[in-house]
Amino acid sequence: METEHKIIFGDALKVLKSIPDNSIDLVFADPPYNMSKKNGLAWKYSKHVTMQEDWDMFSKDDFFKFNKEWINECFRILKHGGSFWVSGSFHNIYQTGFIIQQFHPEIKINNSIVWFKPNAQPNITCRFFTESTEHLIWATKNGDGKKWKFNYQWTKDFIEDPLNPKGKQTRNVWSIPLTPKNEKWAGDHPTQKPFELLKRVILSSTNEGDIVLDPFVGSGTTSVVAKYYGRNSIGIEINKKYQEVIKKRLQKSQKTLSDESSKVIFEEFKD
Ligand SMILES: C[S@@+](CC[C@H](N)C(=O)[O-])C[C@H]1O[C@@H](n2cnc3c(N)ncnc32)[C@H](O)[C@@H]1O
Repeated sequence: METEHKIIFGDALKVLKSIPDNSIDLVFADPPYNMSKKNGLAWKYSKHVTMQEDWDMFSKDDFFKFNKEWINECFRILKHGGSFWVSGSFHNIYQTGFIIQQFHPEIKINNSIVWFKPNAQPNITCRFFTESTEHLIWATKNGDGKKWKFNYQWTKDFIEDPLNPKGKQTRNVWSIPLTPKNEKWAGDHPTQKPFELLKRVILSSTNEGDIVLDPFVGSGTTSVVAKYYGRNSIGIEINKKYQEVIKKRLQKSQKTLSDESSKVIFEEFKD
């Protein structure tokens, strides 16, 4: 089966509106966390700096409106039986959970996952505990006689980390190191997610041939993993400057696990 991978450059709030109702098997979103500061902190002993990205800065009210809008669109386009995964830190994850619970009674939260980063960067100020986790919410849209997919046997047989021995039920705490250098060969993106994280998300809750959509695809990780494992994908990204990184990564993963052929399409969204 040939798979298709479409990258659409445009504002997710507009692009999502062009995607038909009930058409996507899995949404993975790694949205702006609104954690950037105008004047970032740097540490003279290392190259670690805090985030200073324009796309990650909102006023309190704008952030709530933005989150409500894109989440609403994602649930509309999700098929019955489809999965919605969203990542976050304390800056956005409570608000995201609140929006789901308050405005989407049709949606069931299946799990929250704690992603533990054993090699998280140190705290620059020494006035807080060191942030070494991110959080994921796994929620599903059930109805029309359909319930969510969970590839339980795969999770048991293949997920392995210091907190999750192979062959045992996988816990909701995942130990995955920060994105390694050898995954960042295609160029810079400040928040590129590890392949392993997306592998767990996609393989636990989709089957081959399913359609995966990422409204904030960044350096293209979701599409790269979907392509490798024989899923179709749609990635949306507002910043054209990440096009080259995405392109290189998608070309490199030309070889897929199942040796299926695949087609990559780049599009610019026209209102
Ligand atoms: C947290 S990063 C995602 C990183 C991605 N998971 C990866 O592995 O590379 C969020 C991305 O969303 C993009 N973005 C921000 N606002 C957007 C919007 N309204 N529509 C589409 N993309 C947007 C940013 O340019 C950024 O690349």
